[in-house]
Amino acid sequence: MCGIVGYVGSKQACPILLEGLSKLEYRGYDSAGIAVYDGNKIDVKKARGRLRVLSDMVDGGQNVKGVMGIGHTRWATHGEPSDVNSHPHVSSSGRFAVVHNGIIENYLPLKKRLMEKGFQFVSETDTEVIAHLFEYYYKGDLLEAMTKVLHRVEGSYALGVLCSDYPDSFVAVRKASPMIVGVGRGENFIASDVTAILNHTRNVYYLEDDEIVMLSADSVKIYNTDREEIKKEIFRVNWDVSSAEKGGYEHFMMKEIEEQPKALRDTISPRIKDGKIVLDEVSLTAKDIASLRKIYIVACGSAYHVGVVGKYTIERMCRIPVEVEVASEFRYHDPLISEGDLVIVISQSGETADTLAALKEAKSRGARILSIVNVVGSAIANASDDVIYTWAGPEIAVATTKAYSTQLAVIYLIAVYMAEKLGKLTDEQYKNLISELSALPDKVAEILKNKEEIQYLASQFFSCKSIFFIGRNIDYAVSLEGSLKLKEISYIHSEAYAAGELKHGTISLIEEGTLVVALATGSALYDKTISNVKEVKARGAVVMAVTAASREHTEDVCDYVIRIPDADELVLPSLSVVPLQLFGYYVASLKGCDIDKPRNLAKSVTVE
Ligand code: AGP
Repeated sequence: MCGIVGYVGSKQACPILLEGLSKLEYRGYDSAGIAVYDGNKIDVKKARGRLRVLSDMVDGGQNVKGVMGIGHTRWATHGEPSDVNSHPHVSSSGRFAVVHNGIIENYLPLKKRLMEKGFQFVSETDTEVIAHLFEYYYKGDLLEAMTKVLHRVEGSYALGVLCSDYPDSFVAVRKASPMIVGVGRGENFIASDVTAILNHTRNVYYLEDDEIVMLSADSVKIYNTDREEIKKEIFRVNWDVSSAEKGGYEHFMMKEIEEQPKALRDTISPRIKDGKIVLDEVSLTAKDIASLRKIYIVACGSAYHVGVVGKYTIERMCRIPVEVEVASEFRYHDPLISEGDLVIVISQSGETADTLAALKEAKSRGARILSIVNVVGSAIANASDDVIYTWAGPEIAVATTKAYSTQLAVIYLIAVYMAEKLGKLTDEQYKNLISELSALPDKVAEILKNKEEIQYLASQFFSCKSIFFIGRNIDYAVSLEGSLKLKEISYIHSEAYAAGELKHGTISLIEEGTLVVALATGSALYDKTISNVKEVKARGAVVMAVTAASREHTEDVCDYVIRIPDADELVLPSLSVVPLQLFGYYVASLKGCDIDKPRNLAKSVTVE
């Protein structure tokens, strides 16, 4: 997704903007640009391609002078990646420069109206409409012009706007796209997320929808769309800068895979006190839980895969029906939500457009929203009734690993918490499950010690054209994630299949040498999955199994066997996913792929 940075202070703006944009590269982009007020006009530099192209154009920021500016990395939605479609976009007079993350859904009629009034457009983008609208509405008051523009545009936006009549301040606003305000000493910032400005300040405002901010070097004022000033709480960001740096790893993804034990510990430990699960963030009472008719879990991508684990786990432990759906489907099929139904929304970024829209759809139908989010103050967190944060720290790699794992941990906590409240667990069972959760980080750490085994297996299969992942129940849920990890970073075609379903068609694709990754960690269905392994073996497949330490005879049937530590079924998904994360990473590495920033992908998909 696009990245935005803005600065006003006493230092030269351009180097600060370039540094901030470099911290946002992980969001995915295809062009970059900056606009700096140089004392009498706005100087705009922008180019298609990586940030290096822009940086070279401005000599690392040295040849653009001024202490106030905005910057942008663009992930193309309207208009191909090109110099002219890059942001910032400028109004005809040059008075306004605009950077935008999101989509202006009614840009075409607005563009038509503006062209009829004589405005000249140079790009194919929706954003350029905003620059000309400012020109159209501006009568000397920038804030007033902002509110008029906002009344005309529909869609999602995080905007940064420079006006050459305002040499000391600029404005920004957010709606459904992320924007934070960094509050420094004699300098202030805007950014799409905290990582862009953490080197300068830890004090931030998390803007909410329809909040406008006007920043100068010494002041930050926040307004609603009626131009009434509003007071907000400043957040102190407490994770360290190194969390958002590679720390000696070749890729953020490997760093974040390795951080999983710590992320799990940070997420689980604070929620187990005196042998009990404590979810202070959850306002659901035992009575509320007992009255739940149904639970929905709604998310996208890997977060959806967590939801699939959640379905199996919560239904098994709490005996409450759980429906899990991808957000982009949920929101459009007139979901059967009733007043008081619980909808669990899962999102690492807390900004995924489809997930946010699904949340709002569910809320409009009377649902109670419990979200599992990794970014404090994000749109999904702010829109929820209850939020359980995953304390994974910033996740930079596009392919999620530690956030996925901590989301799983929160699902386990919720399942055990509700099962206990419902009286579904004996004291002994409750105690055992809590000790399983407490032991989980160390078991993941144990698996990470055997990375070389996975690296070897990747070396055997990185030239495969297609790889299948199969499993039953929670193993099927994890096979979905294993398949996505491989696909999104190595670009190898892959499918995940319920092992029992393979013979209903897809087994026709199995031929001599086809790699099938079989997840067979659960004890109850182990034998059945091994039978499915025999089916594909009989058709020439090569089978790599992921199974638990105590499962027997796996080597007799499978060509390769990866063993994870024994554990209660509750936490097996957190263990079996780790070899699959590593497998995808090493295959992609051997293929020379851009692991942290895979083609076509963005870390947070803030457009539909
Ligand atoms: C996962 O590796 C992908 N990056 C993607 O599927 C991601 O999980 C999905 O876009 C949801 O993102 P969110 O968790 O930030 O909502």
